[in-house]
Amino acid sequence: MESRHAQRKNEHLSLAAKYYDQVHRHYFDQVRLIHDSLPEMSTDDVDLHVQLADNLKIENPFYIEAMTGGSEQALKVNRQLAQLAHKHHLAMATGSLSIISKDPQAYASFDVIREENPDGIIFANLSANATLDQAQEAISLLHADALELHINAAQELIMPEGDRDFNWLDNIQYLVSELDIPVIVKEVGFGMSKTTIAKLQTHDVHLINVSGRGGTNFAAIENRRNHDIDFASLLDWGQTTPEALLEAHSSRRGKTEIIASGGIISPLDVIKAGVLGARAVGVAGYFLNVLQRDGYERLDQILSEWIVIVKRLLALLGCASFTDLSRVDYVLGSDLLSYARQRHLR
Ligand SMILES: Cc1cc2nc3c(=O)[nH]c(=O)nc-3n(C[C@H](O)[C@H](O)[C@H](O)COP(=O)(O)O)c2cc1C
Repeated sequence: MESRHAQRKNEHLSLAAKYYDQVHRHYFDQVRLIHDSLPEMSTDDVDLHVQLADNLKIENPFYIEAMTGGSEQALKVNRQLAQLAHKHHLAMATGSLSIISKDPQAYASFDVIREENPDGIIFANLSANATLDQAQEAISLLHADALELHINAAQELIMPEGDRDFNWLDNIQYLVSELDIPVIVKEVGFGMSKTTIAKLQTHDVHLINVSGRGGTNFAAIENRRNHDIDFASLLDWGQTTPEALLEAHSSRRGKTEIIASGGIISPLDVIKAGVLGARAVGVAGYFLNVLQRDGYERLDQILSEWIVIVKRLLALLGCASFTDLSRVDYVLGSDLLSYARQRHLR
């Protein structure tokens, strides 16, 4: 019999995968790229590497975003994802490691990620209220290359067993100052505003994953798990990923690097996120959905295709690197343009 925590992880896995198609919205359709018939570029000129921080370089601009750990089912999923991350040279984030301080048996379901991918780039993931000890333990267990701290107030509020205290900034700043690997602060699918980004910047956070609405919907997932109170009114809570990227675009940049995730289901979405300023792109629910529905071989094939297509699209847009995408012209659909104008982002 697995612990309550492990059962919750299994529920997240099955609900996220099962309903991904139903909750996904094509918000990136609101971003149209302008074609240049003279790219003056060869695909051989394109280098997919991205330098996210002085000590953090990834081989491909998209990666497998934080999902799971802490149960038998999670171990199986993590093993498969880590094998694919290894094969395709993709960075991979773990699910939240908070569970290992309560249930040491959960460790194996995370350890498998490093076991299957000894030299790959791995991001450990913890809650923003993690202690320094927890962070150091998670990093050393996985030999992690970066630490993701998730900020998920909307999810916790809907979760029956969730936190109700969201005083995170001072702890985040403390962890950033004490750890010697890059710290990424990420949402979990509710997006960020320029206010959030400014607060993170003033607390020394330089890697921010805006993780917006459009894909995995934790309001829907937790509402399905929550049988006492109905939070259906929050199903559309938060900024979409394109909206969050525009919010980030208007913030004072300095040395901040923005990462996108939330609703990415195609190589063109990866490219559009790059055009809107993302330096890298995380994909969670879509990959999980393919893995659970169509199997390992299909996800393997999709990852091979995405790498080829991203490279060719970069050449088509005349970009030798993912970072160059920020120079590509684009127009916004009327909904996104209206959002941008009302928020004074354009
Ligand atoms: C099953 C599942 C579990 C997740 N668990 C975590 C987690 O432990 N920590 C975290 O930071 N994000 C977690 N996420 C959120 C993702 O990392 C990502 O921010 C969000 O799902 C939006 O991306 P997507 O639309 O590609 O799924 C989880 C997502 C899924 C699908």
